[in-house]
Amino acid sequence: MKSCRTAVLCGLGRAVPERVVGNDELERRLETTAEWIERRTGIRRRHRVAAGQSTSDLAVAAATPALRSAGIDGGGADAVVLATTTPDRLCPATAPEVARRLGLGTVPAFDVSAACAGFVYGLATATGLIGAGIAERVLLVAAETYSAIVDPRDRTNAAIFGDGAGAVVLRAGEPGEPGAVGPFDLGSDGAGGDLIKVEAGGARQRSSGRPASPGEEFFTMDGRSVYRQAVERMSASSRGVLGRAGLSCAEVDRLVPHQANLRIIESVAGHLGIPADRCVSNIAEVGNTAAASIPIALADAAVAGQLEQGHRVLLTAFGGGLAWGSCLLTWPKLEVCHD
Ligand code: UT7
Repeated sequence: MKSCRTAVLCGLGRAVPERVVGNDELERRLETTAEWIERRTGIRRRHRVAAGQSTSDLAVAAATPALRSAGIDGGGADAVVLATTTPDRLCPATAPEVARRLGLGTVPAFDVSAACAGFVYGLATATGLIGAGIAERVLLVAAETYSAIVDPRDRTNAAIFGDGAGAVVLRAGEPGEPGAVGPFDLGSDGAGGDLIKVEAGGARQRSSGRPASPGEEFFTMDGRSVYRQAVERMSASSRGVLGRAGLSCAEVDRLVPHQANLRIIESVAGHLGIPADRCVSNIAEVGNTAAASIPIALADAAVAGQLEQGHRVLLTAFGGGLAWGSCLLTWPKLEVCHD
């Protein structure tokens, strides 16, 4: 018999580090202009961690208001999934540390690595845990500290990426309920694995016996190629998930895409024929926060009153792997708690 249990969104929170890096600061430090950055990416400022602050700190800072928003601070989540490309350490996963610091005891906790698609992959994972009866209430956090892996002298990537975290709580519920997540469309293409990467530090480089070359510890991206594929994949994946749900683009009330670049966001919305006023974007204020970008955008949009109960919301993301994914949900009654 087909299971009728699914994951229902019931808590939401976000956190960004205090320090703001404006385009003017980058203009002073790098061979770029504030005008170029804003025109080519839509970004005006991004946040950056203080020395010693890391992904688990941001994850805890976002999870705390998310648990409060779900009405379960002081425990209650029985699994933790952390979507991140920038774990505190290569080993072990960062999620158990986050669970411990939140006082969640010995619940199952693990990381999901799907770069900028990490939040949508994490949603699918949480939905699986709940659907299979393994968990009743999952805390899904997406947290990133890209400033730790981007070369501060890299004028393009230093301009795009920001640090931050978003978190949601998902409880067991039924598919027709407001907040029920799904269907999903997920995909990957390892042929594009070199387009977004950190070459050094993994088993391939270490086992070669070859020391890392200078610069290989930093994040690199073939911007133009990734740009093209991001538009194509997010548009196609969005259509795929809408097809699965039997819905048309006109029936989408809010598109919440991964905040990669404002031009990419506008292009995806244009391909789908979704008007600008139905498309959520906060990239100007926080930059591209990779896996964390969708939950931070959801929290900011909810606080700004752009997400109303009953809105049909389409999430879509694309990033390194290559990996992409889309998901639908109907916006529930939700009290968003900020950091
Ligand atoms: O989140 C995960 C997935 N990531 C994405 O989806 C990001 C996808 N890519 C992008 O968003 C864009 O490709 C970038 C923002 C990375 C770059 O923008 P672009 O419009 O594609 O620029 P470009 O790489 O084609 O470079 C255009 C010019 C080049 O100069 P020439 O060769 O035309 O003389 C670059 O050297 O802009 C130059 N440029 C800059 N100029 C001033 C590149 N970065 C900068 C900069 N300031 N920061």
